[in-house]
Amino acid sequence: MRAPVLTFFNNKGGVGKTSLIYHLAWMFSSLRKRVVIIDLDPQANLTAAFLDEDKIESIWSQQNIGSTIYQCVKPLTGVGDISEPILQNIATDLYLLPGDVNLSGYEDALSGEWPNSMGDNNLYRPMRILSSFWQVMQMAATKIQADIILVDIGPNLGAINRSVLVATDYVVIPLGADLFSLQGLKNLGPTLRSWKGLWQKRLDNWNGSTEKPMFPNFQLPLGLMQPIGYLCQQHGVRLDRPVKAYDKWVQRIPHVYRESVLNNALVADNIRQEDDPYCLATIKHYRSLIPMAQEHRKPIFALTSADGAIGSHANAVQGAKQDFKELALKIAAQIQMTV
Ligand SMILES: Nc1ncnc2c1ncn2[C@@H]1O[C@H](COP(=O)(O)OP(=O)(O)O)[C@@H](O)[C@H]1O
Ligand SMILES: [Mg+2]
Repeated sequence: MRAPVLTFFNNKGGVGKTSLIYHLAWMFSSLRKRVVIIDLDPQANLTAAFLDEDKIESIWSQQNIGSTIYQCVKPLTGVGDISEPILQNIATDLYLLPGDVNLSGYEDALSGEWPNSMGDNNLYRPMRILSSFWQVMQMAATKIQADIILVDIGPNLGAINRSVLVATDYVVIPLGADLFSLQGLKNLGPTLRSWKGLWQKRLDNWNGSTEKPMFPNFQLPLGLMQPIGYLCQQHGVRLDRPVKAYDKWVQRIPHVYRESVLNNALVADNIRQEDDPYCLATIKHYRSLIPMAQEHRKPIFALTSADGAIGSHANAVQGAKQDFKELALKIAAQIQMTV
């Protein structure tokens, strides 16, 4: 069984990516999908959203094999093999493989094995290491019979993220309405295409090797990295900033998305963001609901009057529930997952 891997990626940080994955994970599980979340950002913000500090500290200090994504792949940096992931059960149908600040220590192994995987022999070890995130993801998914794997990563184009993208079937791109997000988007498309092509070469090299028949059970990710759309985040916008400034950037996104990500140079310039089928949603600025939800360690749409969500807040909670449900259903349709 291969569970679909959905990665949220943008090489510009602070666009609300982690909060978005947190909420979508809860929404998919409330729609009765079995979800496993893999925190592949060494900053581990998503892990901190799900688990309290004491729990995270105990996981990190014990350094049990398999207890974080890094602890699963770490044996590969020596003579060992991948370890079975130990998942945290967050709620019914919702599981997390915690992130790890030490994950950055794996970057060197990944960049070192990238050229080795194109050699004529001794390919198994490099291919095992380069696909190790995918191997762990699929072990985790098999363990809990997951319908979907959701992945958070840091905002860069380094070797860790390349390996995560190699493990990815579908990519969602969260964007802010500013120069930096637009610039990031321009780099993203060509980078994804390049990684996809380079991984295909490695797959071909492996498939044509004399070593492959020796490892009949060794499966590899296809590196599809199919972009399914982008999200516009309104919350990055300063409340005192004129609407015109937001509009100026946001209306350039449809063109840049087509040019960079879809590699379609013959694009019409006049598609407005609100009419763009590739725009999966505009994420609202949820203001005080965000800290309220963080305090109660819940998604905003699960806040109750006992948590302080009364009056207009209660309406906003209902609105958020509807927004995230619509988004989850849209994503499910894009990846052909029945809900
Ligand atoms: N929809 C939203 N409305 C208001 N604030 C938000 C929203 N989404 C995220 N934030 C806040 O913006 C900051 C950055 O969000 P985060 O999800 O960590 O972004 P990223 O993962 O892209 O760095 C956090 O302080 C978060 O609480
Ligand atoms: Mg983040």
